[in-house]
Amino acid sequence: MCKKIAILTSGGDAPGMNACIRSIVRSGLSQGFEVYAIYDGYKGIIKRNIVKMERHSVSDIINRGGTIIGTARFKEFVELETQKKAADILKEMEIDSLIAIGGDGTYKGALALHRQGIHTIAIPGTIDNDIASTDFTIGFDTALNTIIDCIDKLRDTSTSHQRCSVVEVMGHHCGDLAAYAGLACGAEFTLINEQLTNKAALLNDLKRQKSDGKRHAMVIVAEKIINVDELAHEIEREVGFDTRSEVLGHMQRGGSPTANDRVLASRMGDYAVNLIAKDTSGVCIGIIDNKLQYLDIEKALTMKRKGSIDLLEVAKRLA
Ligand code: F6P
Repeated sequence: MCKKIAILTSGGDAPGMNACIRSIVRSGLSQGFEVYAIYDGYKGIIKRNIVKMERHSVSDIINRGGTIIGTARFKEFVELETQKKAADILKEMEIDSLIAIGGDGTYKGALALHRQGIHTIAIPGTIDNDIASTDFTIGFDTALNTIIDCIDKLRDTSTSHQRCSVVEVMGHHCGDLAAYAGLACGAEFTLINEQLTNKAALLNDLKRQKSDGKRHAMVIVAEKIINVDELAHEIEREVGFDTRSEVLGHMQRGGSPTANDRVLASRMGDYAVNLIAKDTSGVCIGIIDNKLQYLDIEKALTMKRKGSIDLLEVAKRLA
């Protein structure tokens, strides 16, 4: 029997989602399946915003950021009634399988639909890299490169003026974007919530570096842990650097995906379709040591991330 697969993207968009959509559509069609796009995440099921895809529907999107099928955060999807309604709509349309691309909220939605009898596969798509069951999520590499580009530019002016720049980067509650950027940009200090270091240690380190002759400093801070404006004032007061704060914001989520994200997204999309072909359900895909793997979503949601403290230690030795 011909399978009918639907795709959705949910939660924050991430560069590479389009490459993944393209991969699922083309891989699915190559296997003789019908493929449908659900617009605007789980909400699109309830609104029956579901469109049949052809090979040409995904032409010229591999290089585009964002997601051509839209995304949304749909809080109501935690309710059992809404989940049942969504499953009923998919069954009525004879859509037997769903591939959901997104972060942990998306995983929870996919698990709920699996429990309602829809074959579901979740693919990690978020700039945050906060999914424990994979080394990398789609979008992380592009966001990291965007951050590096911004910080390199900031360094030019910050150095010229002998300033300290405090830069807040995204990541939700995960410090990976900050930790990788800290190492890649040669930051003087990186503050993430997984580390025990407190503000006093940051101020002491900067004071020491200043008295050792540093004329400028770059401080990278993961979002949601401290007010960077207040931190900048404190650094100015306590350390003596003329200091500015910047919040990079949503520009980190945009832009054309890097080669790494395009390749990762294309591989994961194709792998997901192969799992659907074998009637696998309730699982999520991960890449561990550059090998694609799958795991029960339920188990993945309980896993703890190992974090990036090791990168901070290297960065500290090199600062
Ligand atoms: O999960 C991706 C992310 O960009 C986080 O890094 C950030 O905390 C959040 O989404 C911002 O969400 P919104 O786009 O709803 O403001």
